[in-house]
Amino acid sequence: MSYGLQGKTALITGGGRGIGLEFAIRLLQGGCNVVIADVALTDEARTLVEKYSKGSPKAVFQKTDATEWAQLQEAFDVATKTFNGLDIVCPGAGIFDPPISNFWYPNETATQRSSYKTFDLNINHPVRTTQLAIDTFLRLSPEKPHGTVLLVSSIAAQMAAAPVPLYCASKAAVSSFTRSLGVLEQINGIRVVCLAPGNVQTQIWTADGVDRAKWLKEGEDIWTPIEAIVDGMIALLPGAGEGGEYEGGTVLEVTAAGRRKVEIHNDAGPNGRKGTTVSGAGEYGGAEIIGQLQKEFGK
Ligand SMILES: NC(=O)c1ccc[n+]([C@@H]2O[C@H](COP(=O)([O-])OP(=O)(O)OC[C@H]3O[C@@H](n4cnc5c(N)ncnc54)[C@H](O)[C@@H]3O)[C@@H](O)[C@H]2O)c1
Repeated sequence: MSYGLQGKTALITGGGRGIGLEFAIRLLQGGCNVVIADVALTDEARTLVEKYSKGSPKAVFQKTDATEWAQLQEAFDVATKTFNGLDIVCPGAGIFDPPISNFWYPNETATQRSSYKTFDLNINHPVRTTQLAIDTFLRLSPEKPHGTVLLVSSIAAQMAAAPVPLYCASKAAVSSFTRSLGVLEQINGIRVVCLAPGNVQTQIWTADGVDRAKWLKEGEDIWTPIEAIVDGMIALLPGAGEGGEYEGGTVLEVTAAGRRKVEIHNDAGPNGRKGTTVSGAGEYGGAEIIGQLQKEFGK
């Protein structure tokens, strides 16, 4: 189904693979132009961009390091100049505490520029992208502003996971930020919402030389299908019309168990629902923490 996507334009950071790429595919299928802003494309993404390189809808790749604000601005410029409009902005790029940005790897993180890359990419980039999106939406259509910023949080926002504390903190920040901006929809019609996916089998679990996919144990844990995630993203868009709208400020958890609005107060959290459990995190992550404490702390 197209949900009124025909003729619209979306900008997706991190659209070069994984969830962002699947979202891009679905938007293009619905007739929506897409700008993929990413550091790189997978072969699948490159083929997609080539397939939609002419005509309408169209896909454009803009090489973008989302932690560099000037490059983010360029991605917006490409979107508005190419398509003369912008309707959906998804700052989806994210990392999962690789050693260069992991609390338990002080020597590796010390090589960074007085910051943690997890926070630069998972917090500062979506916040900055939201600023640019609101500015662009208002400039393009000052009389009748519209547009959606669809941020990407995680079930990790509500979980304690000692091996990846920066990731959990970053996603909690994104959920909180979304809620604070929810009121914008009442002020000028711009919707800021966020998706909180369960565990999805993408390269985020195995990128940068770490294998965290093994934390999910066969027979105990299951992955959340990526199609369910993208269905949830579409449902967050205005006019999705699936049993009512999700208003600005919504944090929508999507797991193998289904969709659930995450409440601001007294929320139960993912609570062991299907597609949220990681049975091996304590065993593998615990060993990693103890090893790192011995190797890199107190020397
Ligand atoms: N996969 C999961 O289990 C899961 C669960 C919850 C939330 N999420 C979130 O979903 C989002 C997408 O994750 P995914 O699973 O598709 O991961 P992924 O690793 O498959 O894709 C991430 C994309 O971000 C891009 N990227 C990385 N650094 C970048 C940078 N500096 N600038 C621009 N692009 C950059 C990568 O090239 C890649 O295309 C992330 O925000 C992630 O935190 C994922």
